[in-house]
Amino acid sequence: MLRIRNLCKTFHKNTVNEKIVFNGFSLDVQEGDFITIIGSNGAGKSTLLNMISGSIEADDGSVLLKDKDLSDQPEYKRTRSIGRVFQDPTMGTSPSMNIIENLSMAMNKGKKFNFSMGVSKKDIPLFEKLLAPLSLGLEEQLYTKVGLLSGGQRQSLSLLMATLSSPNILLLDEHTAALDPKTSERIIELTEKIVTEQKMTTLMVTHNLNQAISLGNRLLMMHKGEIVLDIRGEEKKKLTIPKLLTYFEKNQSKDLISDRLLFS
Ligand SMILES: Nc1ncnc2c1ncn2[C@@H]1O[C@H](COP(=O)(O)OP(=O)(O)OP(=O)(O)O)[C@@H](O)[C@H]1O
Ligand SMILES: [Mg+2]
Repeated sequence: MLRIRNLCKTFHKNTVNEKIVFNGFSLDVQEGDFITIIGSNGAGKSTLLNMISGSIEADDGSVLLKDKDLSDQPEYKRTRSIGRVFQDPTMGTSPSMNIIENLSMAMNKGKKFNFSMGVSKKDIPLFEKLLAPLSLGLEEQLYTKVGLLSGGQRQSLSLLMATLSSPNILLLDEHTAALDPKTSERIIELTEKIVTEQKMTTLMVTHNLNQAISLGNRLLMMHKGEIVLDIRGEEKKKLTIPKLLTYFEKNQSKDLISDRLLFS
């Protein structure tokens, strides 16, 4: 599904602030893989997702999605096949538009003339059906401007919107980190439900080791632009936090284990 080859990225090249983040990063993701990604601050997790989605341009290397080279495609074209949810709940939705308008926009993503098609009343029952299982009462607030919703409500909506047009890949970057524990748990349940039901290929960055262990079929640990741990299938099912910590200690230096990783 996704083939990343030899990605290189240096910020502020040839200046005193030069920062080499990736120097030949490669990764293969199979169709239907649900991969959780953990790693120290500054490891390059967000930069990786940004280079896949096109919001940051790689210096070198290639990103192939379904055998199609994305390297020359601008970000707005990639959004047709890539769904994203960010850490900040305000980023995935449009605050001045109501819930129906936001969902319509997401549903028409990738279609030609999607703005002129506007909101269709016939989609309302579908939207109500999508929103009701969230148990957030959103199906009764279809005409409420999204800017007035809570962070958890907005993030639930962002997740629905990111997955509504069945993208080839879903990229989640700490999408529950800004939410309270209960809401975070809810969003995680929703994530698991959507990803499993739609068999969606997913990369999910998290600092929560419990989430990283319990979700998905493969776990990657990144450090300084490299994959330092890659555990999948049966081996992943047997993972526990103490086991994971032993892996870190065996394989890498102590600076891999950040306080955020341990205590989130
Ligand atoms: N736009 C940018 N300009 C300059 N440097 C950047 C930019 N984006 C990222 N970096 C640098 O690249 C490195 C990797 O950052 P990135 O945000 O990908 O890390 P991360 O693994 O997502 O960390 P965190 O867990 O803190 O979110 C960091 O040193 C960061 O300062
Ligand atoms: Mg990040």
